Amino acid sequence: MKYQALLLAVPLFALAPGVQAADDGPALYLKKTCIACHGKDAKTPILPTYPKLAGQSADYAFNQMKDIASGARNNGQTAAMKGIMHLVSEEEMRTIANWLATLQ
Ligand code: HEC
Repeated sequence: MKYQALLLAVPLFALAPGVQAADDGPALYLKKTCIACHGKDAKTPILPTYPKLAGQSADYAFNQMKDIASGARNNGQTAAMKGIMHLVSEEEMRTIANWLATLQ
């Protein structure tokens, strides 16, 4: 009985107004301002010393984001990016990384 109620509640919750689906990679890339430094297509960074992200391995990109956020990676110009990474959850990093890996 309890479980039936749960099963019914799930689709209703999904339809409820104001409940938004989680943002996808491109939406997060924009919203979290990654675009400002790494460029619209993730391969035209604003400075030549900033990395291109398009096509990088999802796991690599995810780990770099995590390490830049935590400070474990603290080299080159990571400081520029670290400032915004507290706004990005690990789940969001994973979503962005998976999407970046699909770009050419
Ligand atoms: C203020 C500029 C800035 C913003 C905003 C920014 N980055 Fe970065 N990002 C950099 C810089 C600079 C580096 C390279 C750091 C270095 O020199 O080691 C970098 C490195 C990376 C790397 C590692 C690339 C590699 O080849 O090792 C990834 C992945 C990355 N950024 C993803 C993101 C994502 C995703 C966002 C948005 C959540 C973001 N960045 C927002 C400037 C920025």
